Amino acid sequence: MKILGIETSCDETAAAVVEDGVGILSNQIASQVEIHARYGGIVPEVASRQHILAIIPTIEQALAEAKATWSDLAGIAVTIGPGLAGSLLVGVNVAKAIAIAHRLPITAVNHLEGHIYACWLAGRSIDFPLVCLIVSGGHSDLVLMRGHGDYVVLGRTRDDASGEAFDKAARILGLGYPGGPAIEQAASNGTAFIQLPRAWLKGTNDFSFSGVKTALLRLVEGGKVALSASQGGELPTRVDAAASFQEAVIDVLVTKTVAVVKEYRVKQILLVGGVAANKSLRKRLMADSPIPGLVPEPVLCTDNAAMIAACGYYHFQAGRIDALEMDVIPGFKLA
Ligand code: KG4
Ligand code: ZN
Repeated sequence: MKILGIETSCDETAAAVVEDGVGILSNQIASQVEIHARYGGIVPEVASRQHILAIIPTIEQALAEAKATWSDLAGIAVTIGPGLAGSLLVGVNVAKAIAIAHRLPITAVNHLEGHIYACWLAGRSIDFPLVCLIVSGGHSDLVLMRGHGDYVVLGRTRDDASGEAFDKAARILGLGYPGGPAIEQAASNGTAFIQLPRAWLKGTNDFSFSGVKTALLRLVEGGKVALSASQGGELPTRVDAAASFQEAVIDVLVTKTVAVVKEYRVKQILLVGGVAANKSLRKRLMADSPIPGLVPEPVLCTDNAAMIAACGYYHFQAGRIDALEMDVIPGFKLA
């Protein structure tokens, strides 16, 4: 069963063909990162215009790479939220047009659920119940998954998402955009010796990352981090600050996830979303987890359409076909 996945929730125009929820036949991603880098962050209006330009060629490339024709497809899976309304609209309307033209069933996918299903693309066995740590630009959620499509959100961020915190920290340190990979790269040359605060929010499974970001900002504003070679001296450097920031965020994410794993006695732990591409986070969670863990390869952690198609396969298996009247839901919740 070949499913065409379409993903346009943020700044990547993506299309993929996946067979039976596990076999990636194609995975095309048209990135807008260079365009948004000029502005230091995503400009929603620019993103939706770029999606309009890129969506048809990207879908055509996905079909060509998969050596598939329209008649080979069993259905379409498309992200309807959460995400930027103008961006989501492009993918959803193109998916509807294809569904009408080629008489294909369509299923609406929650972007966060899509991130979780990136794990099924690894082809390994996955045992329920499990805990998922979803860490992206817009979310930091701890989710108990009891079966396909069965989610209980145990905790979420109360302010900045972890990816958002990485992006803001990179801006504070003048490391550019997107911030996550920039911080990771800088951190690999630094030493994490600056004590930055960790918000434990004891008694809850929630996260908070605005405090650590503000603490970093205060240090930089107070001239306590050497941002140029001329400052030098005894001060910690930009790369030390990046390493310290990264360690503080990872410390909280991993400690709280391991606590939830123990409390709910789950069988497996999944780490997903753009921030899951971070090697230090992957390593630390796998080292500290008392149970088997699974992290998709980095290209399947950041936004892509293969994960949407994989998720769509399980929707179709469960008979979940959506009407063409369906609309985007920018604030779509997982459970
Ligand atoms: O899942 P994603 O591609 O898009 C959203 O759904 O938001 O996640 C993007 C986020 C960005 O904040 C980006 O800085 C972060 O993931 N990210 C990383 C890394 N790669 C991407 N954060 C830390 N380390 C990375 N290597
Ligand atoms: Zn995402």
